[in-house]
Amino acid sequence: MILVTGGTGLLGSHLLYSLINSGKEVRAIKRASSSLSEVKKVFTFYSENAEKLFAKIKWFDADILIPESLDEAFEKVSHVYHSAAMISFDPGDKEALIRNNLIGTANIVDACITFNIKKLVHVSSTAALGKQLNGEEVTEDMIWAPDSMNSGYSISKFRSEMEVWRGLEEGLNMVIVNPSIILGPGFWQKGSSAMFKKIKDGLRFYATGSTGFVGVNDVVKAMISLMESDIKGERFIINSENIPYQKAFKMIAEELGVRVPNFEATPLLGAIAWRLDSFKSWFGFPRTITKEAVAAGRNLTAFSNKKIQDKTGIEFEPIREVISQTAKHLK
Ligand SMILES: NC(=O)c1ccc[n+]([C@@H]2O[C@H](COP(=O)([O-])OP(=O)(O)OC[C@H]3O[C@@H](n4cnc5c(N)ncnc54)[C@H](OP(=O)(O)O)[C@@H]3O)[C@@H](O)[C@H]2O)c1
Repeated sequence: MILVTGGTGLLGSHLLYSLINSGKEVRAIKRASSSLSEVKKVFTFYSENAEKLFAKIKWFDADILIPESLDEAFEKVSHVYHSAAMISFDPGDKEALIRNNLIGTANIVDACITFNIKKLVHVSSTAALGKQLNGEEVTEDMIWAPDSMNSGYSISKFRSEMEVWRGLEEGLNMVIVNPSIILGPGFWQKGSSAMFKKIKDGLRFYATGSTGFVGVNDVVKAMISLMESDIKGERFIINSENIPYQKAFKMIAEELGVRVPNFEATPLLGAIAWRLDSFKSWFGFPRTITKEAVAAGRNLTAFSNKKIQDKTGIEFEPIREVISQTAKHLK
């Protein structure tokens, strides 16, 4: 029996679809407040039998911050995919991010040990790796380091990973994936998919830096392949291509048939934008542009996918194709 956390999110919903579609017995946790409607919608993107497949998931109400709430879901489970995490780049969410992701992951690791789970696949992020800002490729060996420009999200994902490494020391069979920016259909209002919606709604600016992108179904493929392998106690960058934001935004706009964002977000514009955004937050508006995000948008960041390709033979879908398929669903 497999258990999935974060099944009501972009990655988790695609993972659930893939597991269920291949005939696996699957449980998923959700919070009492979670909505299942986007998950159902994701199933309809891939199957005409969406409702029937969706009905095969056994849902348990649980919060990764409340260890007792996990017990029932963990009974008789052998394999766990831990995808649940809070994602936010609002500096006001820093404490909540660290609490949710660090304590939540510690609780999942503890439950895996208590319930003698055979293997845990933990979803980390490239945000938990060391930085290389000159375009040279970051590898799995690069250790995260404290830096005043680290976002709360980055700190929370690094510290979550530390809990999973602690689990390994305590006898847990685990493997970690570090995806770059995940692109895929659904969940248009938040997270990485919101990029499509913003460009559709007329975004005019592009950031001058570059970073890694990967299709959601490739992340799922890598996770399942690692779970079913003998690989243990290692982490893997999951990345298809390293692309300038300008090029990624252009591809999205072209596939959506809308105006290409063609104004460069210069350092001066960026500095004005995050200060205005900060000012707006005094009146209760959520932060969308932060100093750290503006700085990150100028970095030339690249990630190596050599290790996962060598170990599993996975071939990544080109980002143009991922964007094309994703845009079709939004249209
Ligand atoms: N999206 C990306 O570009 C990207 C890139 C690299 C790594 N990642 C990592 O990939 C994973 C999945 O990301 P995503 O894009 O799918 O995020 P998402 O769409 O925001 O989904 C997050 C999931 O986590 C659940 N969750 C959060 N806090 C929880 C708690 N306390 N108890 C139970 N469930 C909780 C959410 O449940 P609710 O529905 O109740 O909110 C939701 O199911 C995360 O670990 C993220 O850090 C994402």
